[in-house]
Amino acid sequence: MAIRNILVKGDEMLTKKCRVVTKFDKRLHILLDDMRQTLAEAGGAGLAAPQVGVLRRVVVLMDINKDPEEVIELINPEVIDMNELVSTPEGCLSVPGEWGYVDRPTWAKVRAQDRNGEWFEREGEGVVAQCFCHETEHLDGHLFTEKVTEFFDPEELEQEK
Ligand code: NI
Repeated sequence: MAIRNILVKGDEMLTKKCRVVTKFDKRLHILLDDMRQTLAEAGGAGLAAPQVGVLRRVVVLMDINKDPEEVIELINPEVIDMNELVSTPEGCLSVPGEWGYVDRPTWAKVRAQDRNGEWFEREGEGVVAQCFCHETEHLDGHLFTEKVTEFFDPEELEQEK
């Protein structure tokens, strides 16, 4: 396994639409293992393949609602259901130093394939639902900053408390 370099805003790889995964082979498994390690090292909530320069529809994210936390691997994911949107604070490993409020569901359901190509559905609440949306948008070349209704400085929020 290897830690991969996380691309940051301004890199054009982050603006590309990613291709569907059709081969569930060793190469995909290495990518997934590297992404898991890269996400753990960065301490993020989720990571999409274009963030490490691979234009394929692959996502890893943390299910923090499980104890112990579980890593979810999503290949060719699609958000198929969600509840009403709520203004939610958000950030991204590819957009260091910027945070903002984005309208996100508090519950969502995703349909995806696992690393062997088997289709499954999974529900997520809170940050997990938010991640389903955020990471799927990365696969279409979109960053959360495009959807921010208001940017904020987390240090200022701390001071107000
Ligand atoms: Ni992101």
